[in-house]
Amino acid sequence: MNAVSTNMQPETVAAAGSPFLSVQDIHSYYGESYIVQGVSFDIPHGEILALLGRNGAGKSSTLRTIARLDNPSLQQGEIWLDGEPIHKLKSFEAARAGIQLVPEDRRIIQGLSVEENLTLAQVAPGSGWELDRIYGHFPRLAERRKQEGTTLSGGEQQMLAIARALARNLKLLLLDEPYEGLAPVIVQEIETILHEIKELGITTIIVEQNAVAALKLADRAVILDTGEVAFSGTAREVLDNADLRHEYLAI
Ligand SMILES: Nc1ncnc2c1ncn2[C@@H]1O[C@H](COP(=O)(O)OP(=O)(O)OP(=O)(O)O)[C@@H](O)[C@H]1O
Ligand SMILES: [Mg+2]
Repeated sequence: MNAVSTNMQPETVAAAGSPFLSVQDIHSYYGESYIVQGVSFDIPHGEILALLGRNGAGKSSTLRTIARLDNPSLQQGEIWLDGEPIHKLKSFEAARAGIQLVPEDRRIIQGLSVEENLTLAQVAPGSGWELDRIYGHFPRLAERRKQEGTTLSGGEQQMLAIARALARNLKLLLLDEPYEGLAPVIVQEIETILHEIKELGITTIIVEQNAVAALKLADRAVILDTGEVAFSGTAREVLDNADLRHEYLAI
């Protein structure tokens, strides 16, 4: 060790350069099935990471592991959010800590209006945005506040699912295929909302089959292949690398 490195103060250096989310060699299983096989990546505060890969690559399983759902179960590895360990938390504790998963099926609660779906989310401890602020960003939801949530269009349901995450304590937004089944014009509306969320300093992981749309939005990209990281770098590097796109993303 030279004189410069011995004089450094490790805590100060770590704080200055430490990522907001750090996923460190996570391994998770559905029963006996070994699915997430040593995935690692970091995200700086306020950035968007696109998590990509073919069907069955382990994208949803990685999001579920970070959100601390019981399945798949995390058997090895660490997850740190804003300097705090997350890997030993239960899912409700992770949600309280600000990790909000918007799953592929959106989970809008049947029998409740748009507004009731939102106010129910606000009941959670450490809750987030007030209704007025949410409606300011989601005028379509404001117009439909009394409508039953499950009768919204697919795009509106996706907006409600994202709005519900904002109604809770939100530090890390995990989006599983938010554009699935949506018309391009609705995808654009959701992109605008995700840009606004980014400007507020919220860190996001987006899993998407529409890799081009996700990469245009994202700062960084991780490509998974059979539960392992095949590529980690900037979104621009993936857009510029035809071999990588053909091999893993079929674009
Ligand atoms: N509940 C489960 N029990 C057992 N195996 C599962 C379960 N859920 C997913 N798997 C398996 O884990 C692997 C990864 O699935 P995962 O859903 O994470 O992939 P994905 O990358 O999200 O795929 P897609 O693009 O199709 O959504 C797949 O082989 C899948 O069959
Ligand atoms: Mg999936």
